[in-house]
Amino acid sequence: MARKKIIAGNWKMNMTPSQAVELINTLKPLVGNDEVDVVFCVPAIDIIPAVEAVKGTNIHIGAENMYFEEKGAFTGEISPAMLDDAGVKYVIIGHSERREYFAETNETVNRKVLKAFEHDITPIICCGESLTQREQGVTIDFIRQQIKVAFLNVTADQAKKAVIAYEPIWAIGTGKVATTEQAQEVCKAIRDCITEIYDAATGEAIRIQYGGSVSASSAPELFAQPDIDGGLVGGASLKADFGQIVCYNK
Ligand code: PGA
Repeated sequence: MARKKIIAGNWKMNMTPSQAVELINTLKPLVGNDEVDVVFCVPAIDIIPAVEAVKGTNIHIGAENMYFEEKGAFTGEISPAMLDDAGVKYVIIGHSERREYFAETNETVNRKVLKAFEHDITPIICCGESLTQREQGVTIDFIRQQIKVAFLNVTADQAKKAVIAYEPIWAIGTGKVATTEQAQEVCKAIRDCITEIYDAATGEAIRIQYGGSVSASSAPELFAQPDIDGGLVGGASLKADFGQIVCYNK
């Protein structure tokens, strides 16, 4: 069975609640593509108005982060039950910015992934190498480790529903998109790693996105690769360009 593409915007720390509603209203008519799952991952405070604003459309609302405990004394954190109750279907886990600025590790990523599944929220699990790692020739080894730890104790049935976002750190927000060959090579290595951990059916089912300076012009070629099932889009998700990216096949 062909995998359905999934194209997600990562708004990062942009858009106040009222700006979020305005942006959704601008993008709504531009992102109609039934062949693609469309997700807007928005700041926590924008979630409730965003869920309201996308009612009756094909857009799903996702979160950009989540904590791995159910509830309690964790000042400032957002729990999976809160996201679920607010209508969130997806959550980005372990974005490289969270790993770099907020000390997230492969282990916290794993705990969050397990928690998201407990609450039927689909994790978009981020991985990706730095420029140094690419130059040292250790990209695939590094990413295999990220993936193996992220999926510890995750069942095959859960893994089949997961989304992985391969985002080379050097390509994020830099305008330096990875070449199609580089992106395909790593996405294939990730799929092979999942096949190794689980089985061929799981490797075939899991969806793997590319992220890092995806634009309206680079999207069609990237998304045509056999192991790239869509994209995680930062900067371009805040503009009308996102409509062109979602409708890359039109
Ligand atoms: P970018 O961000 O598209 O602005 O490079 C991608 C991401 O960080 O998810």
